[in-house]
Amino acid sequence: MKRLEGKVAIVTGAGAGQGAAEATIFAQEGAKVIATDVAFENVQNVVNKINEEIPGSAIALKHDVSSEEQWKTVVEEAVKKFGKIDILVNNAGILATKPYQETNIDFWNFGMNINAWSQFVGTKTVAPYIKEAGGGSIVNIGSMASIDNSGGFNVYTASKGAVEALTRSAAVQFGPDNIRVNSIHPGAIATKMLTDTITTDEAMQGVIGMIPLGRVGEPIDVAKLALFLASDDSNYISGTANIIDGAMRL
Ligand SMILES: NC(=O)c1ccc[n+]([C@@H]2O[C@H](COP(=O)([O-])OP(=O)(O)OC[C@H]3O[C@@H](n4cnc5c(N)ncnc54)[C@H](O)[C@@H]3O)[C@@H](O)[C@H]2O)c1
Repeated sequence: MKRLEGKVAIVTGAGAGQGAAEATIFAQEGAKVIATDVAFENVQNVVNKINEEIPGSAIALKHDVSSEEQWKTVVEEAVKKFGKIDILVNNAGILATKPYQETNIDFWNFGMNINAWSQFVGTKTVAPYIKEAGGGSIVNIGSMASIDNSGGFNVYTASKGAVEALTRSAAVQFGPDNIRVNSIHPGAIATKMLTDTITTDEAMQGVIGMIPLGRVGEPIDVAKLALFLASDDSNYISGTANIIDGAMRL
């Protein structure tokens, strides 16, 4: 049996990078997937590819994860289309970072809203549906930035610290509803977010030189961990922070 057979999953930020890999592998493992992104055309393309391979297994929705109203629409559409929700992957995020002296309250709120409030309000909105389905799994994508402060990313670091802490808080709150909540903390993963930051070959070689496994991670590496945490294979794991960085932190 496939590992997510019979499950319905929402994956945010699924128009690119890790979210696209997660939406794809979840569908390949039998899930019905609601793939959302603020960049609608991108997520529609991802969903078209998924449905070419596994017809009828995914839908695309335009979704700004920092909007509570839009979360309500997403869950309504999900239940209308697939009848229930078992899994939420809070993946969407942005690298909001400026030096301390250039950071004001507006920039702080911008980064915290998209990276942290988004996951809080997503969990708040989706958890009652997962409870109604008999329980399930929430996977929050954090970053190594909150664990070893790689890069010194200031607002981004704070937002991912909130992800890590809220994962534990939500695991306590929703455990009695049979909802597991875990976070994933990627190191350097080959997506646009990384190539926007590390812009030259020389700088990339410098990053790779810090990784004992000798390469940056691929989106599929993280997606396989998300799959494990979303599936019943991890059914006694909750409130954990899972590092995936090729041992870069050591
Ligand atoms: N790539 C890395 O090295 C790395 C490392 C650690 C953590 N992460 C985290 O992994 C997650 C996925 O990032 P990625 O590496 O795939 O980057 P990415 O930039 O390729 O993808 C991010 C996706 O999120 C979407 N998005 C941005 N703002 C949004 C919003 N307000 N509402 C909905 N969607 C929005 C983008 O449109 C994009 O499709 C993020 O939470 C990021 O912080 C990435």
